[in-house]
This record gives sequence, structure tokens and C-alpha cells, in this order.
Amino acid sequence: METVVSGIRPTGFLHLGNYFGALRNFIKMQNEANCFFFIADYHSLTTHPKASELNMHIKNVLVDYLASGLDPEKSTLYVQSDLPETAELYLLFNMLAYMGELQRVSSFKEKVRRHPDNVNAGLLTYPVLQAADILIHNADKVPVGKDQEQHLEMTRDFAQRFNHTYEIEYFKLPVAYNFGNELVKIPGLDGSTKMSKSDNEASCVYLSDDPETVRKKVMKAVTDSGPTEPNQEKPQAIENIFQLMKAVSAPETLQFFEEQYNLCQIRYGDMKKQLAVDMIAFTAPIYEKILELRSNDDYLRKVAKQGAEKARESAVKTVREVREIIGLRSL
Ligand code: TYM
Repeated sequence: METVVSGIRPTGFLHLGNYFGALRNFIKMQNEANCFFFIADYHSLTTHPKASELNMHIKNVLVDYLASGLDPEKSTLYVQSDLPETAELYLLFNMLAYMGELQRVSSFKEKVRRHPDNVNAGLLTYPVLQAADILIHNADKVPVGKDQEQHLEMTRDFAQRFNHTYEIEYFKLPVAYNFGNELVKIPGLDGSTKMSKSDNEASCVYLSDDPETVRKKVMKAVTDSGPTEPNQEKPQAIENIFQLMKAVSAPETLQFFEEQYNLCQIRYGDMKKQLAVDMIAFTAPIYEKILELRSNDDYLRKVAKQGAEKARESAVKTVREVREIIGLRSL
């Protein structure tokens, strides 16, 4: 059976980008693979150093995981920092990672640009920690969105470098995965190419938004005055609305609005109304479950504890074997 590993940072509520880029695949994969899905709290500390908010969002992400359909009896769900073995593997991989390659990573360069006052070493070595997360369970596949592609390439580089340095085929070379398709990038409602909680709250539809909030957000989505020539290329903001519709609506609905657009007869108000209806049909059942789970702290604690225990079995084994391969020993 294949091993699957992925994680999401607890920096906020999960949005449709997280769902269609990652979570949807987690849910499908849990039926056919040995799955580990975690909440990446160590990674969040690179940008959000205060634990109070972090703890709140760890709970929220776990609730969102469960409400979306992750089953703790099928996949191992845990909090990254409950697995300190990851930190040891990260340290060992740091000796195999080069400054130059880390400085060239696009997510690092972007964070430096956005937050020049907080260029900490954790940000630089972020992909090394991510490799440790994945390789601690010796994964085959990593379900992620398009923005994680480069991090996965680096994971393979570190795995290969380890194998080469210690002359052993120990780590597999895991691949970024999306069910039967290319990796996806869900756009924002504000005309931006990626739905992202750090860019603009209004660009995101959260799984935990109540139906009225979803409707309001969709109705406010950026559009323009409409096409002026038949079959005109779509500007980014309009392309985004179509892409969101592709994610949540029936193919016939999408086709209808495509035709209207190409004939220059489209009414964006109608299109957004339809998009809101279809999006709510998708989010409302998840939202209902979120409300139920939120008040069930005992259950959530039990899930996290059971997940940590299961995850540690495989993590302890990997770290023990890696120490042996490197030749580290205690007297
Ligand atoms: P994070 O927390 O930013 O995002 C979690 C997952 O959601 C996907 N995603 C999207 N997919 C499509 N469209 C979007 N607009 C969109 N926004 C987010 C991301 O691609 C990701 O799959 N570094 C990771 C967390 C991590 C990790 C790991 C992932 C830490 N260790 C090990 C996999 C394996 C991150 O910051 O994701």
C-alpha cells in the first residue's frame, strides 16, 4: 500500500483553495492508501510566532478536516509538534541542504519581500522542515496545490542527496499529487490569481462561512462591464469567476455561462447568483458539521492524541533507522 503525507498550516480557517488543492484529495486517498495528514504548527511559527492564535487555529483546522470528511479511523490525523522526531530529521537534513538553493526558493523570496523585518532562519529552512514532514513516513505521494510544487522538488532533492551521501536507497522520491489531474490553483474573488488568506480576506470563501456570508462574498466578487466582442479572451477577474464555477457547479451551468459570455450576452449578476447557490450547496453541509464539532473538545483531543500515537510509531522507526544509516550512536 502506498504512503501519503500532507499538511496544512494553522494560520486561519480553511478556504476553498485549501479544499480543492489539498483536502479533497486527502479525503479520496484515505480509502486506498496509508495516509498521514497533519496540522503544520511548527511551520506557522515562521510567520506567526504567538501561540495563542495558533492554538485556536490548530483546533479550527482539525475541525475543518473532520467536517470535510477525513475519518480518524482511516487516516492518521495529528499535530506536527506532537511529533518531535520531525525536528530531529529536519536537523539532520539541514546538513544536506545548501544556502544557495534555499535562498532561491520562490516562497522564501516572496516572504522576504513581504516581511523584510522578519527574515528568520526558519523561513530559509522551511522546505527542509517540509521534507522532514514527508520523509519521516517515507511517503510516495503528497497531495498539494500548485504552489507547493517547488517544495516537493526540493524534498526529492534532499531524499536523493541522503541516499547518495550514505550510499543506500532508503528514502523514496515522493511526488506532488492531485487526483488524476494537474495540480490546481483556485483563484480569489478579488481578481487575484490565488485564493489566499494572507492576501485579502474578501478573496476567500471559508468552509466555515455561513451561507449568508458566502452569498455576500460571491456577490461582491470583482467583475467588469462585460465583453464587447464575441469570443473575447477573459480578463483575470472574469476568468476567476469561471474557474470557481468550474469547481463547484455542474458542467451544464458552466457551459451555459460560457456561451452567454461568448455571445456578449452575459449578466454577471445572474452568474454570481448561480455561483453563490452552487457554492452554498457545497459548503453548507460542511458548515453544519463544523458547528457540531466545534463544541466537542473531548472528541477533538481524543482524535489528536490517537493520531499522534500512530504517527509516532512510524516517525520513531524512521529516525532510528536514519541514525543507524548515518552511523550516529550513543555510548
Ligand atoms: P498551506 O497551509 O499554505 O496550504 C495548504 C494546502 O492548500 C493548498 N492551497 C491551494 N491549492 C489550490 N489553490 C489555492 N488557492 C490554494 N491555497 C492553498 C496548498 O497547495 C497546500 O496543499 N508548506 C505547506 C504546508 C506543509 C506541507 C508539509 C504540505 C508543511 N509540511 C508537508 C505537504 C507536505 C503550506 O504552507 O501549505
